[in-house]
Amino acid sequence: MDYHNSPFDLQGKVAVIIGGTGHLCGNMGVALARAGAEVVLVGRNPESAIEKLAAIDAFGGKSWFHRADVRERQEIDDLLTAVLLRSGKVDILVNGAGASLNTPFLEITDDEISTIMDINFKSVLRACQIFGDYFINRAEPSSIINIGSMAGKIPVNGLFTYAAAKAAVHSLTKNLASEWGDHDIRVNTIVPGFFPTGQASQQGDETRALEILRQTPMSRFGEADELTGATLLLASSAGSFMTGTEIIVDGGFSAMTL
Ligand SMILES: NC(=O)c1ccc[n+]([C@@H]2O[C@H](COP(=O)([O-])OP(=O)(O)OC[C@H]3O[C@@H](n4cnc5c(N)ncnc54)[C@H](O)[C@@H]3O)[C@@H](O)[C@H]2O)c1
Repeated sequence: MDYHNSPFDLQGKVAVIIGGTGHLCGNMGVALARAGAEVVLVGRNPESAIEKLAAIDAFGGKSWFHRADVRERQEIDDLLTAVLLRSGKVDILVNGAGASLNTPFLEITDDEISTIMDINFKSVLRACQIFGDYFINRAEPSSIINIGSMAGKIPVNGLFTYAAAKAAVHSLTKNLASEWGDHDIRVNTIVPGFFPTGQASQQGDETRALEILRQTPMSRFGEADELTGATLLLASSAGSFMTGTEIIVDGGFSAMTL
């Protein structure tokens, strides 16, 4: 699709995608690059970025990989420094690193609580602090897109710590939207339903998959590309009056009551 000369045009913009080596956020990276943005895919493993970097290169887009473990504040600081050095600026930040475990509640250890909160929530808070400070000082329109989860909205069996971490991401998003509205820094959440890819594919058994599908009016799982519309809307001037919102992309899962 050609987004040039449309409100979704991102030519001249730089997007940093934390978790961009993963399935959903990697696809978001391809979508942002297709709309013209220079894209920085951030993750712990360079090999995981190869396919997405090649996909972007194939249509003449611009992208590169930066290695960071976002559990460490210093690594997020170093990420911003590296992006400013190589790309000169940042306009869009996507916070999509994620990991979940479905340990029975009474067996969850302190180590697991720390790890899951660190990856899914504290890393988002730290990245919002570090990039937010940069955005405030730069004083240009900026967009932060946090990746939440349906599990953070309504109970999804067995994902206790992950669900709490994602609920915290939803809350942080709204608080920052309120805090930074005057600075033209928009902060929004995309709330995916069930996309059986990456981390999500490791949790599912067949019975659970059938339960999810029964609860989903569209009777299927999502495809990674189906997050493209929400991503481009929130990243671009098409969404210039949107902040503090949650865009739910779930095939109707959260609309179903019986
Ligand atoms: N797949 C789904 O059904 C689904 C549903 C709701 C929300 N989500 C959220 O969407 C996002 C992407 O999920 P996905 O399914 O594509 O999973 P994925 O496992 O493919 O992607 C997660 C990415 O996060 C990265 N990551 C994890 N810990 C990190 C760390 N400490 N430092 C840097 N990077 C780290 C991983 O390397 C990976 O690239 C996550 O935030 C996830 O919670 C996914």
